[in-house]
Amino acid sequence: GLKIAVIGGGSSYTPELVEGFIKRFEELPVRELWLVDIPEGEEKLHIVGALAERMVKKAGVPIRIHRTLDRRKALNDADFVITQIRVGRIEARIKDEKIPLKYGVIGQETNGPGGLFKGLRTIPVILDIAREMEELCPEAWLINFSNPVGMVTEAVLRYGNIRKTVGLCNVPIGMKMGVARLLGVEADRLHIDFAGLNHMVFGLDVYLDGQRITGQVLERITSGERSGVTMKNIVDLGWEPDFIKGLGLLPCPYHRYYFQTKKMLEEQKEAVKKEGTRAEVVKRLEEELFELYRDPDLDIKPPQLEKRGGAYYSDAACSLIHSIHTDKRDIQTVNVRNCGAIAGISPDSAVEVNCVITKEGPKPIAVGDLPVAVRGLVQQIKSFERVAAEAAVTGDYHKALVAMTINPLVPSDTIAKQILDEMLEAHREHLPQF
Ligand code: G6P
Ligand code: MN
Ligand code: MN
Repeated sequence: GLKIAVIGGGSSYTPELVEGFIKRFEELPVRELWLVDIPEGEEKLHIVGALAERMVKKAGVPIRIHRTLDRRKALNDADFVITQIRVGRIEARIKDEKIPLKYGVIGQETNGPGGLFKGLRTIPVILDIAREMEELCPEAWLINFSNPVGMVTEAVLRYGNIRKTVGLCNVPIGMKMGVARLLGVEADRLHIDFAGLNHMVFGLDVYLDGQRITGQVLERITSGERSGVTMKNIVDLGWEPDFIKGLGLLPCPYHRYYFQTKKMLEEQKEAVKKEGTRAEVVKRLEEELFELYRDPDLDIKPPQLEKRGGAYYSDAACSLIHSIHTDKRDIQTVNVRNCGAIAGISPDSAVEVNCVITKEGPKPIAVGDLPVAVRGLVQQIKSFERVAAEAAVTGDYHKALVAMTINPLVPSDTIAKQILDEMLEAHREHLPQF
């Protein structure tokens, strides 16, 4: 049986993961699931841990749930380590989303200044975990969900000393499910050639039963007010039909921040007036979720969790673990070392691309050059991620300012410096390297 350690186990998302392991128990025999958290998260850890125990009991599967604050104990001899941490917790995300808005810049968890700061806080902690893994479970796979996943994967590949690492996100599977819903077909009849970076991934082509249907899909997503392909955390403004027709690619929901910046900013300002930032909405949703999780009669994943952006996240994690474990050699979209799969990106860098999943890990499928219309943006975001990762590791102020300034959502060097200074101050306690 397998031992799985979940760092950030007290997350409100954990029941989704537990449900995923229960559903797949026959093919993926997880014997020990270790939920780890920090002392500040202890109460949540116990609420989620108790719910997880009720869930496995109700399902009648012999998965043993352990809860601990001792990360080393959880990592010891683990087969897979899932990281889903939020350094500074939801309060830090609120700051990431609020401060940029004061300067007329998109405030978002993984994009723009918010994404930079989430990376600066998260990367050192993930690198610590990677160091502990080297010592305590050198054969284990690190499966990282902690955002910004692209930047974190880049950092582990460049500055970490473990080879077995994969960054995971639910956006590709979410897009596939969205297209399936639009077409009214089963998702397993669809195949999408995904390539790009995390939260910057494109569907290069879409196939139904092996037939290329990209053009029809692009027509469908532009035929109404809304595209129909989005995530719960991103407002679906629809797309300009002639732009998408010209582009000839399926954009991901996060591309709205880049191709519809002005409208998205206006939407954000309106939303903040009405209900607060997404982080504040999430904070309330989490309070409601934990109220439910506390109920000793609850023994399934509550449907209210579906209001969160993380839909299908357990499918992504469990399918990946399953395919590595069984050498399944199916195709999944994950964040790994490029190794030449995308021509315009350094072979050493992390990309999000379709991979064949083997017992040696994901093997990226070569796509060559990205279409010239998007190649530059993807390269620019990669430059941002690399400079940001270097800043996170070194604590170099100048590198952080360069990262902030070259981000496409930040309009100028002086505004970048103002945002940087205010955010460094606001997040000081979680940025010991600066
Ligand atoms: C999507 C993204 C995740 C992100 C989540 C936020 O699922 O892929 O990376 O964490 O949305 O959702 P939330 O409900 O927390 O706003
Ligand atoms: Mn994601
Ligand atoms: Mn310097």
